[in-house]
Amino acid sequence: MATRGGFSSRLGFIAAAAGSAVGLGNIWGFPFEVGQGGGAAFVVIYLAFCFILCFPVMATEIAIGRKTEKNPVGAFTALGYKKWNWVGKMGIVAGVLILSFYNVIAGWAFGYIFEMASSNFGIADQFGEYTTKIFKVGGYGLLFMATTAFVVSKGISGGIEKAAKLLMPALILMILTMVVYSLTLPNAIDGIKFYLVPDFSKINGSVIYNALGQAFFSLSLGMGALITYGSYVNKKENIVTATALITLADVGIAFIAGLMIFPLIGFMSGGTMEGAAGGPGLIFVTLPQIFGTIGGTLGTIVGTLFFVLLCFAALTSTVSLLEVPVAYVVDEMQVRRKRAVWIMAGIIFVVGIPSLLGFGYSEFFSTAFTTFKEGGTDTDFLSFIASVANDSILPLGGCMIAFFAAHIWKKENLDEELAQGAPNYKGSFLQKYMNFAVGYLAPIVLGTLFVLTVLFKFFGISII
Ligand code: PHE
Repeated sequence: MATRGGFSSRLGFIAAAAGSAVGLGNIWGFPFEVGQGGGAAFVVIYLAFCFILCFPVMATEIAIGRKTEKNPVGAFTALGYKKWNWVGKMGIVAGVLILSFYNVIAGWAFGYIFEMASSNFGIADQFGEYTTKIFKVGGYGLLFMATTAFVVSKGISGGIEKAAKLLMPALILMILTMVVYSLTLPNAIDGIKFYLVPDFSKINGSVIYNALGQAFFSLSLGMGALITYGSYVNKKENIVTATALITLADVGIAFIAGLMIFPLIGFMSGGTMEGAAGGPGLIFVTLPQIFGTIGGTLGTIVGTLFFVLLCFAALTSTVSLLEVPVAYVVDEMQVRRKRAVWIMAGIIFVVGIPSLLGFGYSEFFSTAFTTFKEGGTDTDFLSFIASVANDSILPLGGCMIAFFAAHIWKKENLDEELAQGAPNYKGSFLQKYMNFAVGYLAPIVLGTLFVLTVLFKFFGISII
């Protein structure tokens, strides 16, 4: 049998996994969740989830992947627990759903590169109209999906790893330049206050559920993306250090994205921070307005750069999302990689069409989901899918993966795999914490939050 391929170096794996984590979730999702969650209080809860709960789940996913060298479904079977492979199947469904809507947003962002490059800052006021031009934005989406498929079809070291090593440093450089610029604007300080000084009276159930969903989504957890990437990792690698670096990169870039955007909103609103709660449209409306105020060639350059950056970040994530179902089909159904890639990409694009239509083009997909009770508001199709996949399936998947690893596969085996390549792991404080977190904390907290989220989002029942 042909080999499955693998990452060629330690840096390659970390770049690819960090590339998966860093994406629209950081630059588009995080600021709008912070805005809607009332600012710094959301940030505090989000950070707590990332380090206390998500870190152990990430190390566990990578360990399961490396141990079995399999996709998320095959991994459970390979460990001898075929009955558990529904967790992997659920992850693959989540991956398909997430990529289906993710690609729609990536398509918008892709189109914005050309709008900005032609100094069309007025697009800010026409965003509502822009999203209804489905042949235009759908066409950009199709191109984006094709680019993703192209990278994935080149394989692990030749495609995914190469792209990540090139795109990630470029992204970091661009975003830091933007932060420096935005911090020098008048009223930047009001943005920083909103972002960093917490007002805990703003915390409620919905803030907590969204922070959890956002943490899982941003770290690419709960659906086996990191089981899949883990399956291409060398046995000599130190999983624990890699997990730390990936988490820090992801949280760090989300944090910096906030440092870039909130000062801009401070500037734009004259310090009132009005518009911070702009929701999913935030970066597509507020930012172009700002680029317009900068004006001239500089405005055009900064605006274009920003959306190029956003597309880079999105691409290293869509690649990992597509890799999950592709690895499944390649491993389990013996389909050739190239074939699997293009078929899956096609199917997922089609699954994304209702999300594409749900921003004004189709009344039905834009508002027909009124019976869906997310806090009692009307919901479009994309938000509905995001609530199902990000906020519900991912935490449930994380809960099941942790429970499985500690109690079914057994924590001794998990310890053994994590200790490979990490000589000081055994007996360390971290090992004790991991045992506690994977065995008890994560299953209990994630299980509880999953139930509360579903009750609240789908049945309108609010317990906290
Ligand atoms: N983490 C990615 C982002 O923040 C999205 C993603 C979710 C990627 C799940 C893979 C798996 O944009």
